[in-house]
Amino acid sequence: MISHAKTSGRARPVRAAMATLAAIALCGAALAACAPRSEAPPAEPPLAGAPIGGPFTLTSATGETVTWKDFRGKYAIVYFGYAYCPDVCPTDMQRTAQGLKVLSERNPGLGAKIQPVFISIDPERDTPEVLAEFTSAFSDDLMGLSGSPEAVKAAADAFRVYYKKGEETPGGGYLVDHTNIVYFFDPSGQPLAMLPTREGPAAIADEIEKWAS
Ligand code: NI
Repeated sequence: MISHAKTSGRARPVRAAMATLAAIALCGAALAACAPRSEAPPAEPPLAGAPIGGPFTLTSATGETVTWKDFRGKYAIVYFGYAYCPDVCPTDMQRTAQGLKVLSERNPGLGAKIQPVFISIDPERDTPEVLAEFTSAFSDDLMGLSGSPEAVKAAADAFRVYYKKGEETPGGGYLVDHTNIVYFFDPSGQPLAMLPTREGPAAIADEIEKWAS
């Protein structure tokens, strides 16, 4: 679950496609085994009851104090990352924004009830100005939050997110290793699911619609 290891983002779709091809081949060989399966969704969201999410007090890019309680009554999408991230965070945020766009086109009522949030785990560099510039590159709706190192650590702990300063980059910067999970929460703050950013915008919208109403 740690990002920035040099994993190949393309391996999974290829494997999934090969699995699908294999399944089609199997169906061709044994049609009787391919009766339609029940598509009834699982009764419980994948993260139901997981100890993920919890109180935090952070600061928005516009300087307002924002707590976890402020999101009650809305579905929340929560991601921890940093604005200077060279690859993973921008990719995840772009895909999340695209997924929300697809969802809002399908279901504007539900789309209006979802608040995406980007929480910086690099408060040293992610000033309000930097955060605002980062989030606005993806969506006007994406809320950027940061705070003191202690406040950020408390928030990350509450969401079971790991982060650690990583290797230095040319020019005096540094990478930050971090968990890159896109969490989806219900309006009471309970975790529902992890959004499948690697599967594309439609899959993200599907997953949201599956667990939200
Ligand atoms: Ni990142």
